[in-house]
Amino acid sequence: MGSELKYLTGFNNHFESEALVAALPHGQNSPQKPPFGLYAEQLSGSAFTALRHENQKTWFYRIRPSVLHEAFSPFKQDLWRTGPFIDEVPNPNQMRWDPIIPPKKPMDFVDGVMTIAGNGAAAHNMGCAAHVYFMNKPMTDRFFYNSDGELLFVPRQGEVVFRTECGVLSVKPGEIAVIPRGMKFQAGPSGDAAEGYLCENYGSNFRLPGLGPIGANGLANPRHFLTPVAAYEDKTSKFKLVTKFQGRFWEAEIDHSPLDVVAWAGNYVPYKYDLSLFNTINTVSFDHPDPSIFTVLTSPTQTPGLANVDFVIFPSRWMVAENTFRPPYYHRNYMSEFMGLIYGQYDAKPDGFAPGGMSLHNAMSAHGPDADAFKKGTEAELNPHYYEKTLAFMFESNQVFIPTSFAMSTPSRQKDYLGSWRGLKSHFDPKKR
Ligand SMILES: [Fe+2]
Repeated sequence: MGSELKYLTGFNNHFESEALVAALPHGQNSPQKPPFGLYAEQLSGSAFTALRHENQKTWFYRIRPSVLHEAFSPFKQDLWRTGPFIDEVPNPNQMRWDPIIPPKKPMDFVDGVMTIAGNGAAAHNMGCAAHVYFMNKPMTDRFFYNSDGELLFVPRQGEVVFRTECGVLSVKPGEIAVIPRGMKFQAGPSGDAAEGYLCENYGSNFRLPGLGPIGANGLANPRHFLTPVAAYEDKTSKFKLVTKFQGRFWEAEIDHSPLDVVAWAGNYVPYKYDLSLFNTINTVSFDHPDPSIFTVLTSPTQTPGLANVDFVIFPSRWMVAENTFRPPYYHRNYMSEFMGLIYGQYDAKPDGFAPGGMSLHNAMSAHGPDADAFKKGTEAELNPHYYEKTLAFMFESNQVFIPTSFAMSTPSRQKDYLGSWRGLKSHFDPKKR
């Protein structure tokens, strides 16, 4: 599916795309009569008065305006939780989960999101949630938009096809996709099923991190971000329009497909990125840069340098540090870390952290390599070594992640995670330097 699709390249560009030649009005956004009898409608992704480099909007030229639907009424999806997270108390314990076993029942994307942890509050436009998603059927008769935040998909198994107001994109494991807040879409597996991780960002929209002394190049390159081209459907039937609004789910009858945008222009768009194109930077002498060196996307707070949430990856890479303990150092952080593993093995935790698993190390909670990894890291011969076929990631936030009741009670939660460090012994000998 993915290879047939066309994309526009760039990050936060002012793109324009038309599925029908000359559907895009020239010279103005909202002409008295847009071409082909289309309606003009703006979707804004920032305050109107946001600074220019943070200002995001897209003009749609669509068959019907978005307001054409019946009234919303509530329904329940109790496993997709939204901040504020008050079901459980904030918890200083290090936690780890084996992969969640999905229930054996038909689930589309909206049914299949389960929240593991989160922070902040959708109502305050700050914080984020870490979910897992499962889907084994397409969204055939319903369309979704998330009023509470943008959605960063991190597929682990199976390709996902997104049909959005801006067009169609597909992502497979090793790639990510971001669907903006408010954008209507359907997500479905291109095969039998798909699953992965999902970061819901209530804060400022993800952007590329500043590069500081790294310079003009490095990390994720803007030209590798892909945005779909306009594609519309002109369908009428009995459909449902679903939204998550301030944590609650609502649905409305709609008699047509809302994916009826014939042309669009703007920079508030869905996008995808192939993580294998990440230009990984690390030491070529000794020691470790902090893991921020692996930041792909960041959602900043108003405090310079302080992230609401960072999306960070630990990809295949060369390890060349001399006279250095090469696994991640032991640490206690200001920031809180939610980690997942897409494939392979994570160097600090060769065992017990399986692909599909998760770990949570909240602010100031101690963690680092397990006893095995410590022994290997201390005794290894320090030749250049390619750390291959691995892809771990982190949602790192300035606020503590509060686990959900589901995450605390699932049998996937490892009851003795601390046991992985118990083998670390004192090697102290004041007589031996
Ligand atoms: Fe950590």
